[in-house]
Amino acid sequence: MDKQAFRKLSYGVYVVTSWGDGGKPTGCTANSAMQVTSDPAAVAVSINHDNYTNECIKNTQRFAINILGENSDPGIIGTFGFKSGKDNEKFNNNPTIKDYLPIVEGSIAYITCKVTKTLETETHTVFLGEVTGAEVTNPNDTPMTYAYYHNVIKGTSPKNAPTFIED
Ligand SMILES: Cc1cc2nc3c(=O)[nH]c(=O)nc-3n(C[C@H](O)[C@H](O)[C@H](O)COP(=O)(O)O)c2cc1C
Repeated sequence: MDKQAFRKLSYGVYVVTSWGDGGKPTGCTANSAMQVTSDPAAVAVSINHDNYTNECIKNTQRFAINILGENSDPGIIGTFGFKSGKDNEKFNNNPTIKDYLPIVEGSIAYITCKVTKTLETETHTVFLGEVTGAEVTNPNDTPMTYAYYHNVIKGTSPKNAPTFIED
């Protein structure tokens, strides 16, 4: 199997948010978001069993996809993608809440969802979400692609990302 072929799949860069213990806003960086249907609108994300975000989505049955732009602070990706919300506060102030979900400041759009189905794989849960709200908050930035993150920002992906490939 030539795993380099997986690198030819295209993605964006997102922060999937939800609520943790004690009503703490939290979430993780994810590239694995896709629109599944348009009417009714539905999206899906794939979240590792070991990620705190996974249990938060299971507990609340809600998640938001916060879409990052090329000019979003790359520090957001680090905060949400390389630490666990289990023992870290990922939001440094009270976030804006939309449709019961915390929104990441500096994202360019968000899509809020209610879980309708889950699919368990060996390592990840695929959450299917019925879209309950969506808004473009910064129309002037271009959505960041996963390729841009790797090639321009020179970012990496940790083991829990579904797209992780050991070098
Ligand atoms: C660019 C990038 C993409 C990622 N994509 C995913 C993903 O799609 N699914 C996933 O479960 N983890 C993904 N991760 C890893 C999680 O963000 C990371 O394990 C995070 O620390 C989990 O935080 P949590 O324990 O607070 O949920 C990605 C990380 C990066 C940097």
